[in-house]
Amino acid sequence: MNRLEAIASLIDKCETLADIGTDHGYIAEMALKDNLCKKVIATDINKGPLKSAVNHLTKIGFSNLVDFRLGSGLTVINENEVDCAVIAGMGGELIAKILEDSKNISKSINSFVLQAMTNVDVLRRYLYDNGYTISEEIIVKELHHYYFIIKAVNKASVCEDDIYYEISKYLLDKKDNLLLEFIKKTIEVNNKILINLNNSTKQNNPLKINELKNKNLKLNKLILEYNVNI
Ligand SMILES: C[S@@+](CC[C@H](N)C(=O)[O-])C[C@H]1O[C@@H](n2cnc3c(N)ncnc32)[C@H](O)[C@@H]1O
Repeated sequence: MNRLEAIASLIDKCETLADIGTDHGYIAEMALKDNLCKKVIATDINKGPLKSAVNHLTKIGFSNLVDFRLGSGLTVINENEVDCAVIAGMGGELIAKILEDSKNISKSINSFVLQAMTNVDVLRRYLYDNGYTISEEIIVKELHHYYFIIKAVNKASVCEDDIYYEISKYLLDKKDNLLLEFIKKTIEVNNKILINLNNSTKQNNPLKINELKNKNLKLNKLILEYNVNI
């Protein structure tokens, strides 16, 4: 399964889907082709990407099923207008800001499919802190990059440990093999940074070193739990 297929697989069958930051329009296309929704509101903050979505979806004969809107995040959506929203291919901070900036709208949407290109920990923290539950999650690897695709619903949940902002609790509970690979890679990267910091002739950053050591301790503990429970 690739990133776009994983996103489509988490969309709840619904009447109206919002594809926020549609760009090429591929997510809207997949949702309509797979009969996941009857209608899509495809949005983008930039004219160029919105135009490419208009061109692509018109070319494949879907333009009558898509409402194209220019503007930022959920500000171009009305309350109770959509059932499910996809916000994918942006940074974790930006996705969190989009949810935060339009609270009335985001609280009227049943489910979200969210995919952060960077800082997924910031996004997970926002979801836990703002009355969402991560009800499903998929990890996919394309080339050397790991992507996390999150399904979130409007229901409060509690995060029991800060490590679950960085490492998905849902995927841990599932004992996902690709997540195990991701954790091992993260430990390797942290160890390389630690070696560099320790070898550095410049003033060492004890706080950073401690933070990385503690993180690796927690990550190794998670791996042990994996092995014990397998
Ligand atoms: C990398 S593309 C992702 C396209 C598609 N969603 C995907 O996941 O393949 C990011 C798109 O988000 C748009 N974008 C960035 N900030 C936005 C915002 N605040 N609201 C709506 N769209 C935004 C950009 O213009 C760009 O077209």
